[in-house]
Amino acid sequence: MKSGVRRIWNWATAAILAAATCGMHGQKTAEKPWMDKTLTPDQRADLVLKEMTLDEKVLLLHGNGMSHVPNWQMPLTRMSNGGAGYIAPIERLGIPGINMSDAAYGVRSSGENGRYSTALPSNLGAASSWDRKAAYAYGALIGRELRAQGYNMTLGGGVNLTREPRNGRTFEYLGEDPVLAGNLVGQLMTGEQAEHVIGDIKHYAINDQETGRNIVNAIVSKRAMRESDLLAFQIGIRDANPGAVMCSYNRVNGDYACENDYLLRDVLKGDFKFPGFVLSDWGGTHSTVKASHAGLDNEEPMDTYFGAALKRAVEDGQVSMKEIDEHAHRMLRSYFADGVIDDPVQKSVVDVERDLDIAQEIEEGSIVLLRNENGILPLQSANVKTVAVIGAHADVGMLSGGGSAQVDPPGGNAIAPPGQGATHWQEHIWFPTSPLKQLRKALPNAKVEFNAGTDPVAAAESARHADVAIVFVQQWESEGMDLPTLALPDNQDALVEAVAAANPHTIVVLETGTAALMPWADKVEGIVEAWYGGSRGATALANVLTGAVDPSGKTAMTFPLSDADLPHTTIAPLPEEDKGQGTRAVNAGERKSTYSVKYDEGLKVGYKWYDAEHKPVLFPFGFGLSYTTFSYSGLKTTQADHPRVTFTVRNTGDRAGAEVAEVYAMLPDSTGEPPKRLVGFDKVELQPGESKEITVDIDPLYLSIYDEASGKMRVVAGDYTFMVGGSSQSLPLKQVFGIGHGLM
Ligand code: BGC
Repeated sequence: MKSGVRRIWNWATAAILAAATCGMHGQKTAEKPWMDKTLTPDQRADLVLKEMTLDEKVLLLHGNGMSHVPNWQMPLTRMSNGGAGYIAPIERLGIPGINMSDAAYGVRSSGENGRYSTALPSNLGAASSWDRKAAYAYGALIGRELRAQGYNMTLGGGVNLTREPRNGRTFEYLGEDPVLAGNLVGQLMTGEQAEHVIGDIKHYAINDQETGRNIVNAIVSKRAMRESDLLAFQIGIRDANPGAVMCSYNRVNGDYACENDYLLRDVLKGDFKFPGFVLSDWGGTHSTVKASHAGLDNEEPMDTYFGAALKRAVEDGQVSMKEIDEHAHRMLRSYFADGVIDDPVQKSVVDVERDLDIAQEIEEGSIVLLRNENGILPLQSANVKTVAVIGAHADVGMLSGGGSAQVDPPGGNAIAPPGQGATHWQEHIWFPTSPLKQLRKALPNAKVEFNAGTDPVAAAESARHADVAIVFVQQWESEGMDLPTLALPDNQDALVEAVAAANPHTIVVLETGTAALMPWADKVEGIVEAWYGGSRGATALANVLTGAVDPSGKTAMTFPLSDADLPHTTIAPLPEEDKGQGTRAVNAGERKSTYSVKYDEGLKVGYKWYDAEHKPVLFPFGFGLSYTTFSYSGLKTTQADHPRVTFTVRNTGDRAGAEVAEVYAMLPDSTGEPPKRLVGFDKVELQPGESKEITVDIDPLYLSIYDEASGKMRVVAGDYTFMVGGSSQSLPLKQVFGIGHGLM
């Protein structure tokens, strides 16, 4: 009886509330016509804009400081959610504040804010999965955790191409190829925005080294940019329609990226028809009028140029109201398009278990098996009784990348004294995911012992009588620094050499944020690239090492033989007068530095360089082994409104596995292009003996070249050779196919 009454009471209350909400909703739309969801984001933005004063518009065009940075405090900073940036709400119009967080491989600063975030594998790691679905899941996880923590905008989405593999942020990006990187960032951002957070892709553009990043002038031809670096952005923008693009710190062909008319107006908002807003990297705005004219919409994180100074510029007639309206419209349009007004952020508890499972699965698909002599892997419980695990704190954790991408590990740094919670900008952070423990679990009948690897002689002794030695090596990376070399630091090459000399059954596991040099490569039996493995890295790794999971990752960047083989053998040091500026965000003022980097390799980014220069490499782009084998056959090329290639992949081994099938094209000679470029890919799962016919539709954009004369991308008529296979250097199928005029 009691419960019946309660039920009725509940029902009645619900009905009354529903009626009231309905009425309120009607009233709300009458007062605020932009709340009508049947209108387009553009129409809704225009309706709000009509009601806004100049002061309110300007409020949308700048940040309000950054909570944890003492020099970047403003009156409204305290209202923010503890993230990297905050745009004020316009409460009388129902426009929410925008709380932004860095979120490259997970939500940043959660430790400082007393929250939890899952660390996914590094972005470069996840790119090595070549898996569009994994990229979507990666973004969706970040989107959910952002919202749960009170954020409605991400600052993730790094897609700078790996022109300079020693760049300290290589781990935050998606490798060296624009088609791979662009497709993956498109999926990642689509997944993220599906969670009603404003998406952002960055750093636009040519921010390819950290040395002098606030002052460096990157010199590069339009053609090279359009066919490489900017193409990755173009694809990502087309596929995900992100709410925002972050312009970078550096200059490009003379002008700072955040006041670069060519980059922002001509290309991004012109050719790419990007409808969202451009925000500056933190402290990357250098002017009011010039930046506004060039198409910067929002200054972060302060209001130095886009606060009172912008208002004055309007009052003085230097910036038109039309231009201000355009900026404000773009902001509001993204708010509506990405759902932050219709689906306001609601803090909640992160589903830790689910997200850990996703992080593990993505890492399992991202690990790349680079070498497997004599079938050393997978480790078989039956023959492996003793394992020597050596080096890189493999007893307690796995490495992560630093800077603004850093995700805080639950419980603090695995190698720091207990109790140390919040992390520091450039601390080397180890996630509490222990390869040693997971290997012990996966090989219950083996004796698995650990040696720290600090003394190569002692490490070799620990390995000498083991059935197998697994040496963990690492290369830490971060924003705000570049690596002097791709060689491993801290004498780790000597460690590997010593262990390999003591035990012929040596496997090396790499935890790196970029490619590494491996002078010992042919002295070890196994090499596994685990990247920065994220929160569940060790479980994923143990699953791959013991064969519970078949490795299916392929390199998203070339591993060269030496630094001397790179397009630039060194990164030029800063001139004396520029020392001290250049790596952390500072408004570098109007003094122009002479520091520049000339990307004269042009179109030859990554594998295109090694191909064109006939340089042998250690491991090519798109390379990775599996515990099974695959064969390719039956290439057919047809064309309707675009070329389409069809071929068959067969699992010729005796285990289930997944293969990344890669399609490259050699363009007609007249184009003057490097020998080949990636134009499509697909990842397929195959049971032993199973075959699948795969169809890859080739987007004409991926076949295009940039025509300097017309300023347009176009497909040149002529003979194209399509090549298909399992790595950029193993392409058993080839077919020449003529493409006529008028494709694009
Ligand atoms: C980085 C950006 C980041 C921003 C906010 C800058 O130093 O370059 O990638 O989003 O800080 O933390």
